[in-house]
Amino acid sequence: MKNKSIKSILIYTLISLAFASCVEKEISVSSPDSKNKVIFSLTDEGVPYYSILSEDEIIVSPSKMGFEFEETASMSEGFEVISTETNSVDETWEQPWGEFKQVQNNHNELVVHLKEKEAPHRSMDIIFRVFNDGVGYRYSFPEQPSLKELKISNELTEFNFVDEPEVWWAPVHSENSYYESFYRKSPLNQTDTINTPATFELKSGKYLAIHEANLTDFASMTLYNSEDNQYKSELVPWADGVKVYTEAPFETPWRTIIVAKEPGGLMTSTLMLNLNEPSEIEDLSWIEPSKYMGIWWGMHLGKYSWGQGEKHGATTENTKDYIDFAAAHGFDGVLVEGWNVGWDGDWTADGTAFSFTEPYPDFDLEEISEYAATKNVRLIGHHETAGAAKHYEKQMDNAFALYQKLGVNAVKTGYVNKYLDKKEWHDGQYGVRHYRKVIETAAKYNIMINNHEPVKGTGLQRTYPNLMTQEGGRGQEYNAWSADGGNTPEHTTVVPFTRMLSGPFDFTPGIFDFDYETPNGARVQTTLAKQLALYVVLFSPFQMASDLPENYIGKPEFDFVKQVPSIWADTKVLNAEIGEYATVVRKDWETEDWYLGAITDEKARNLQASLSFLEPGKKYQAIIYSDGKNANYKTNPTPVNITTKTVESTSVLDLSLQPGGGTAIRFSPL
Ligand code: NOJ
Repeated sequence: MKNKSIKSILIYTLISLAFASCVEKEISVSSPDSKNKVIFSLTDEGVPYYSILSEDEIIVSPSKMGFEFEETASMSEGFEVISTETNSVDETWEQPWGEFKQVQNNHNELVVHLKEKEAPHRSMDIIFRVFNDGVGYRYSFPEQPSLKELKISNELTEFNFVDEPEVWWAPVHSENSYYESFYRKSPLNQTDTINTPATFELKSGKYLAIHEANLTDFASMTLYNSEDNQYKSELVPWADGVKVYTEAPFETPWRTIIVAKEPGGLMTSTLMLNLNEPSEIEDLSWIEPSKYMGIWWGMHLGKYSWGQGEKHGATTENTKDYIDFAAAHGFDGVLVEGWNVGWDGDWTADGTAFSFTEPYPDFDLEEISEYAATKNVRLIGHHETAGAAKHYEKQMDNAFALYQKLGVNAVKTGYVNKYLDKKEWHDGQYGVRHYRKVIETAAKYNIMINNHEPVKGTGLQRTYPNLMTQEGGRGQEYNAWSADGGNTPEHTTVVPFTRMLSGPFDFTPGIFDFDYETPNGARVQTTLAKQLALYVVLFSPFQMASDLPENYIGKPEFDFVKQVPSIWADTKVLNAEIGEYATVVRKDWETEDWYLGAITDEKARNLQASLSFLEPGKKYQAIIYSDGKNANYKTNPTPVNITTKTVESTSVLDLSLQPGGGTAIRFSPL
């Protein structure tokens, strides 16, 4: 490690020497623990650069900053530093729900006020915030006469690396326009344009994740491999090629870089949340995390249809059966898809046939909602738009008002189509504006949102705590119909360190029956114990028991699904290798219980779990759900051993995970 750091200092000195010859001004700011440092520099041509060091290792070497516009000169050179400001914050704030009850916001800030030396003397500020777990920076354009009606054509922000890192990445739009791709790992220079979060394994052993926070009225940032060891920000364009329509004053989203020594440090970082604004919603009493079931998996398996006909799943009778089952087993929500007019025929083609207020004749919305209320269960609404965003916006107020009247306080939205309104990307400024409108309108009617086919999460749940969860990844549904056979055993060992860094994921674990038939042979490639462990590993404040009710009957493993919470007071990663295995422990939001989830890829593994997270001196009962004898995701997924042990904080558990397997544990104080 020492050698590496000496090498790094040497390289930095060389780069700095070459760079310093043309640097006019250099200003730095470090994290509260002094380990992370940002250096801002302005060359003698007035070009702004930043670099990032962590424990004296250069993790981002000097990288350019700036913007280009249509019809206006770019803002990328000719600047001088007018003034700088510094600020330090150390505060703790409480989340209404999350993976941690308390979040510490401890950072040092540097604001650099830049102004063009020559006319029109436009100004641009760059704000850096340096935390112990990484760095965020954003551009801020003060109000000024020469920045009216702007069209951003290019963001020039670079991310330069000294050595070529390995990158866990997913492609942009080529396979799917809402992030439903496998992450893959390759050397940086072998990647194309990639989505964020993107996760980097540096040669020194450190881990980084590049992403963004507070994506508001802007285009998503993707990363373009422009030169060797370099990514450049590539904003997702509108159909007409413009990246962002704006007008000063405006601020960009934060560009974020998490720095960690272990993969677990990425997962437990709170950088993104800290770079979002506090809640806009004052009364949070109606926001309720939930465990739900749904008329859903049946459609994906072909047992039911969304549209009308013999197999119509959303009938009054079927929904009441689901409500009965949910009530009997302590679930508080029942999602019903295919309840409304518009699903008949190819519903993915257009979306303009959808009505969000008119139920199909065999679905008695009022009767069902009243019935649900008598059982202490809520209907979870469903608005599939097939990408017809404008059509949806026209109906949105009425649709949410109807649900509010009926006591429905959560809606799953969906946008299954390559484009929004036939031509705009989900993750361009158009999509960003639409999704925000949905969240804000829903909040007016006290409705929580579970958004499928979304724009990626950027921590907005802090500001809008009714944005509960999102898809934006390959979820369980791929195991029903995907032509490639379903999610690989590796997939869920990558997701916690990539997709999950953008926020909660409605992955929908909990498939207990592995023997279903599908036309192309797709199937769940995990053991049953791993399905249980996923409830702990993959965070979502709405957590689904996704299988058909009949597949849970008589299964003792179902107890774990019923008991596992969906929000957590604390989270720790005991061990992990991205793409191989992960062991995560989380403390229940309400009680003194802890839960453990350990998962592996296709390899069997023995992992050790030190229970030092438990309160010292206290005894706990551990109920352990582990892979049974000869369990194997391919040949024998169902055997689970359920054992009980008394443990304490000094105990170390040996976890034996079979191929594609896992272990799930509930610890309760005795
Ligand atoms: C895709 C969603 O991910 C899935 O959960 C839903 O069932 C279908 N769209 C229909 O809306």
